[in-house]
Amino acid sequence: MKLLRTLLRQVHKPAASAGHRRRLSSGGGCGPLPLRGEAPVVGSSRELVRRLGSQVEVRAGFITEDEEAALLGELEPGLKKKRYEFDHWDDAIHGYRETERASWGAACEEILSRVRSAAFPEGSPLLGPVHILDLDKTGYIKPHIDSVKFCGSTIAGLSLLSDSVMRLVKEDAASEWLDLLLPRRSLYILRDRARYNFTHEILKDEGSVFNGQRVPRQRRISVICRNIPG
Ligand code: OGA
Ligand code: MN
Repeated sequence: MKLLRTLLRQVHKPAASAGHRRRLSSGGGCGPLPLRGEAPVVGSSRELVRRLGSQVEVRAGFITEDEEAALLGELEPGLKKKRYEFDHWDDAIHGYRETERASWGAACEEILSRVRSAAFPEGSPLLGPVHILDLDKTGYIKPHIDSVKFCGSTIAGLSLLSDSVMRLVKEDAASEWLDLLLPRRSLYILRDRARYNFTHEILKDEGSVFNGQRVPRQRRISVICRNIPG
């Protein structure tokens, strides 16, 4: 899967750790500010949460347990044939295996069409196959921005098997950040500035904390839809 690895993502070294340090001490955050639904988003300032609010969405409980099981039923046989990759330190992702899938059974197709209508404007051309990323319990995604050459303005992902924390950090101002709690079976959507001007990452288990609360990371599979550049 070298293709996905090299095409989709550009790794970004954190600009400075100031933002992170401030976040870890108690003063930086603005407390939980619910956007839509139950899953909250916290950030470096109330203003940033408000400003980026329309471009970041987390919908808790977007799929049911049965739907999660249906997706896993289709994905597990193929994933199990692959080995997790731990060695590529230059990659955006550590401890993962990935695949893509273009055709699905009826139950999964129905789920994906719900994802598409929630995330993308009608008729917006999508990247053909859906991208599947399987993170080992020890795996994590480093800060990166999805390739602007191959991916359009919107990224939408379902999280299976585990809760996790996605962190967005402004590319040119590390003190501006947003943490998203991604509960198991939720859908997240990143659009526009949140997608282009902020790196995104999935925290490793040791550092997986949302608003001061530990969010244990298990193995996590994400099912990601993207549109193509306009
Ligand atoms: C990616 C990515 C996020 C996720 O593959 O580029 O950022 O939810 N994935 O797995
Ligand atoms: Mn990405």
